[in-house]
Amino acid sequence: MKIAVAGTGYVGLSIATLLAQHHEVMAVDIIEDKVNKINNRMSPIQDEYIEKYLKEKELNLTATLNAEDAYKDAVFVIIAAPTNYDSKKNFFDTSAVESVIKQVMEINPDAIMVIKSTIPVGYTQSIREKTGSKNIIFSPEFLRESKALYDNLYPSRIIVGT
Ligand SMILES: NC(=O)c1ccc[n+]([C@@H]2O[C@H](COP(=O)([O-])OP(=O)(O)OC[C@H]3O[C@@H](n4cnc5c(N)ncnc54)[C@H](O)[C@@H]3O)[C@@H](O)[C@H]2O)c1
Repeated sequence: MKIAVAGTGYVGLSIATLLAQHHEVMAVDIIEDKVNKINNRMSPIQDEYIEKYLKEKELNLTATLNAEDAYKDAVFVIIAAPTNYDSKKNFFDTSAVESVIKQVMEINPDAIMVIKSTIPVGYTQSIREKTGSKNIIFSPEFLRESKALYDNLYPSRIIVGT
């Protein structure tokens, strides 16, 4: 399957690495240095398993700055963009997630979008209503930083919902 991953932090890069063992994965980021490192099989983040897999495994993984290339024929788009919590305003900044959803809906509205980013309760329902898309689902992430790929290889649970 062709799978795109938006964001190559702990969440996105661990999932991209995991899935690239058996699928054609394109990972999108907005930071050129991260994209270059991944394409040179160097991990931009500290994680023993990601570092090892990038060096040693045969992975079908390409990183890119070009969202259109990645999203246009993907069956799934995994959204792992940041959603920083603003403690002053007491809310999650979901603008990066929304910008990915908007791009995917313009480029490839049939793709199933799987949000792995942390989002507030009720967000999936409200974004499905706001965009009119039935292709947005949520699967919360439980990994630990620096053990990100390990935790995705051996997950204690996988939860998916709308
Ligand atoms: N790190 C964790 O342990 C952890 C665990 C569970 C959930 N989460 C959640 O997952 C999400 C991602 O976390 P992370 O730690 O991987 O974050 P991160 O900040 O390390 O990585 C996010 C990446 O997304 C990129 N990005 C930003 N806007 C983008 C866009 N429009 N298109 C493509 N890429 C874009 C950034 O450049 C960055 O490389 C957050 O919502 C976080 O709360 C993180």
